[in-house]
Amino acid sequence: MLRFSLRTKLILSFSLVIVIGVFLSVIIGISLIGNTIIRQAQDKVRLDLNSAREVYQKESESIKCLIRLTARRFFIKDAILKNDTEKIREELQRIRKSESLDILTLTDEKGYVKVRARNPAVRGDRLNDGIINLVLLNKQPGVSTRIFPQEELEKEGTDLAEQARIKLVPTPKAKPREGKVEVSGMMIISAAPVIGYDENLIGVLYGGKLLNRNYEMVDKVKDIVYRGEQYKGRDIGTATIFQGDLRISTNVRNADGTRAIGTRVSEEVFDQVIGKGIPWIGRAFVVNAWYRTAYEPIRDIEGKIIGMLYVGMLEAPYVDLRNRVVFIFLGIALFGVILLSIIAYYTTNSITRPIKELVFATSKVTDGDLSSRVEINSHDEIGELADSFNKMTTSLSKYEKELKGWAETLEIKVKERTEELESTQKQLIQSEKLASLGKMAAGVAHEINNPLTAVLTFSKLLLDDLDKDDPQQEDLQTIVDETLRCRDIVRSLLDFSRETKSKKIPENINNIIENTLFLIEHQATFHDIKIDKKLSSGLPKIPLDASQIKQVFMNMFLNAAEAMSGRGTLTITSSYDDNKFLVINIKDTGCGIPEKDINKLFDPFFTTKKVGKGTGLGLAVTYGIIKSHQGLIEVKSTVGEGTEFIIKFPVKPLKFEEK
Ligand SMILES: Nc1ncnc2c1ncn2[C@@H]1O[C@H](COP(=O)(O)OP(=O)(O)OP(=O)(O)O)[C@@H](O)[C@H]1O
Ligand SMILES: [Mg+2]
Repeated sequence: MLRFSLRTKLILSFSLVIVIGVFLSVIIGISLIGNTIIRQAQDKVRLDLNSAREVYQKESESIKCLIRLTARRFFIKDAILKNDTEKIREELQRIRKSESLDILTLTDEKGYVKVRARNPAVRGDRLNDGIINLVLLNKQPGVSTRIFPQEELEKEGTDLAEQARIKLVPTPKAKPREGKVEVSGMMIISAAPVIGYDENLIGVLYGGKLLNRNYEMVDKVKDIVYRGEQYKGRDIGTATIFQGDLRISTNVRNADGTRAIGTRVSEEVFDQVIGKGIPWIGRAFVVNAWYRTAYEPIRDIEGKIIGMLYVGMLEAPYVDLRNRVVFIFLGIALFGVILLSIIAYYTTNSITRPIKELVFATSKVTDGDLSSRVEINSHDEIGELADSFNKMTTSLSKYEKELKGWAETLEIKVKERTEELESTQKQLIQSEKLASLGKMAAGVAHEINNPLTAVLTFSKLLLDDLDKDDPQQEDLQTIVDETLRCRDIVRSLLDFSRETKSKKIPENINNIIENTLFLIEHQATFHDIKIDKKLSSGLPKIPLDASQIKQVFMNMFLNAAEAMSGRGTLTITSSYDDNKFLVINIKDTGCGIPEKDINKLFDPFFTTKKVGKGTGLGLAVTYGIIKSHQGLIEVKSTVGEGTEFIIKFPVKPLKFEEK
């Protein structure tokens, strides 16, 4: 399957329209022009034949008139009656010459020659002519054309026979014919009765003109009809009188310029006009060129076709005219084709260029360049297309931006959720760990508690019994102190494992913070520490074990003071966040906690303090207490900058668990 570009298709269809259009108009135009010109020529020839016929008839009429008038002249009657042949001969000879008749003969009332003006020597013979018989019969003058056989011509004189004698010239397209010479002649002949005084016929006057080599009529036709017009040295118009198919009087010329006497008509014309008696109107090859012609038969008195009258116009001037017009027409058509092609080229370009731009812009969009725009200002469908393309890319880039925004938000959300999940997981691990540790600690504490009480009781009794100065008193006092210390540890362990019962009543957290601070503020450790309280008013009361929570804050504050080595700022904030939690932040400007210790912070016995200084139970106990309040504890710390503990209590715990 062939693939064409839009441009090619447009150009092809334009060209097709142009070619078909031009082709059709050229064909139609040429045939119309050609036909019109040639038809006009043919129509003219048809009319010219009428003129020629008129000339022929006029000539016949004038001969007839001459003969009729002469026959009625007094001298003829007189001379016949007086049998004065000499007088008749003289008169007739004079008339024949002055009227340029070829023959003029007087017969008696039976048709026998009385006086032959042209050749007086031959007389007494019977003129065997249809027209004479007609005059003898009805005493009316008549005229007709007639073929004169050689012997009749010779009776009038060898010069006449010689004028009639025509050598046949071989002619292309003529019908083959026997013989090489035509010896008979064709004459316009007229006869009129000579009437005596008693109204009876006393003779017949008979005269005529030989048409062979008599160019008077044909030249007259040429002059009247064609005014001697010439084309390239040739007469445009021609006229001919044929005897049979033979040109006996013509102004059609041979190649050498002589009259084409002796040439013959083409066979097809012969067959139609002589053979069938139908006039020929149309194109014919005459002697040596194509003519537009008209032929009609010439008949004798009996109606037999004996010759033809012809007029013709040289076809060449009309063909040349037609060719010239066709040439001009073709030139105009060619000019039109070129003009249309140029217009088609520019039109096609104006259609395809914006489309190419659109294609280019579209491929840029495909490559991800959403800023691509098309600059087309045409107010048509392509302009609209470009417009909507631009709108499309604008909204595409808008959506892309939005999409990117969403992706970013999503990323942040995912990060947040992951962090939350991680911290929850950590808390979970921590609580699991502490739960198992708590159980163990509780077991140990129980077991130690009773022997320890016994040790304390008995060592206290011993101490009471001992003298004040007893040297063992100091040692015993150490035993009591250390045992007390052990008891504190055991108690702490029991607190951590929540072995001790808690009593929760709705409390204001701010009050507990204030009470705790009051206890420690005056201690030496806090002298150089700035305490910054940011406690929100109007916090809801929540169920709390006040003494336990106090213990929590005490631990926190002491740890902070120790981390700050007694110098710095302790910031305590209480607030109520949207998630229905009371939040307490305890922030110090102490040494901070290294990353590796963060996870161990709430483990029992984890401490960084010197042996004997801290037990590492403070945060573990804190954790236990907060858990028992369904709270949360988190830590954020930066080494060298400080630490922040965040404690959260739910405002409305769904279920309150107690052990
Ligand atoms: N605010 C703080 N700044 C820096 N480190 C802290 C802070 N609070 C706790 N710590 C670290 O956590 C450890 C554990 O604290 P915890 O309160 O559990 O035990 P302790 O203070 O060492 O001993 P105890 O509280 O039993 O006397 C501390 O030894 C200390 O290293
Ligand atoms: Mg502590």
